[in-house]
Amino acid sequence: MVEAPARPAATDHDGGFTVCPMDRDAHRELTREAYDRLAPVWSATTDDGPWNGHLERPAFRSMIPQPLKGASILDAGCGSGANAEWFLGEGAEVTGIDLSPAMIDETRRRCDDRGCFNVADLAEPLGLDPASLDGVACSLAMHYLEDWTVPLRSFAHTLRPGGWFVFSTEHPVAPPLPSQRGNYFDTELVSAIWRKKDIEVEQHFWRRPLGAVIDACRDAGFTLDRVAEPCPSTEALAAFPEDLEPFAHIPTFIIYRFILDS
Ligand SMILES: C[S@@+](CC[C@H](N)C(=O)[O-])C[C@H]1O[C@@H](n2cnc3c(N)ncnc32)[C@H](O)[C@@H]1O
Repeated sequence: MVEAPARPAATDHDGGFTVCPMDRDAHRELTREAYDRLAPVWSATTDDGPWNGHLERPAFRSMIPQPLKGASILDAGCGSGANAEWFLGEGAEVTGIDLSPAMIDETRRRCDDRGCFNVADLAEPLGLDPASLDGVACSLAMHYLEDWTVPLRSFAHTLRPGGWFVFSTEHPVAPPLPSQRGNYFDTELVSAIWRKKDIEVEQHFWRRPLGAVIDACRDAGFTLDRVAEPCPSTEALAAFPEDLEPFAHIPTFIIYRFILDS
């Protein structure tokens, strides 16, 4: 049997793990701390990195309905603003939120005075105007939440009928992380050590099966429209052969496009 390669787990990192059950507040604080520490190096290490810059983001952006000129978009879990900057460049009006104040500082710096960017926790109601958005984009942030009821309700409330919700997570059949103990059908907190430049953090995020993702969105009033399972392009493979060749035939990320029922 061919041994499954160590998997990238949502962003560029080096693997490693501990299993760490914890309550929601503790998990949120660890996540906030980890991203506050990563914020100064996030753009430099992901924008042109193999996993985010060359694999997930091109596929994510290809799932965003066009044209974006004049569209109102929420970038939920905007990180340091790579997608927000892209949306602005396409002519959209962008609101961005993130749990990490340091990430929001990075986004504000990157986007100058364009857009509106604030610290917020997706696990809490967002308080945005009803039916005020054309789209919600959420790149690699949903898996930090165990319970999707509140964020999905927020998104459904603030989208106009027929609005889109595009989000990405790790692929549910990506090779298991070393910390994974449950089987495919479990929704399980898994962990990984990421090293970026000289910063090392331990991340904890939820892995869940495909049916749980689709059912949660369906229960919130969304219908599945498209799914993308990115595989590395020829150019990306040439630029990052060591990182990406093991994943040329194995899924790493999955991107969903849901439409809010009218
Ligand atoms: C893997 S990063 C992705 C960032 C950005 N979307 C990108 O593609 O570069 C995950 C982001 O989700 C944010 N995040 C995690 N949990 C969150 C929560 N409960 N509410 C809001 N943002 C959260 C983190 O602070 C981090 O910036």
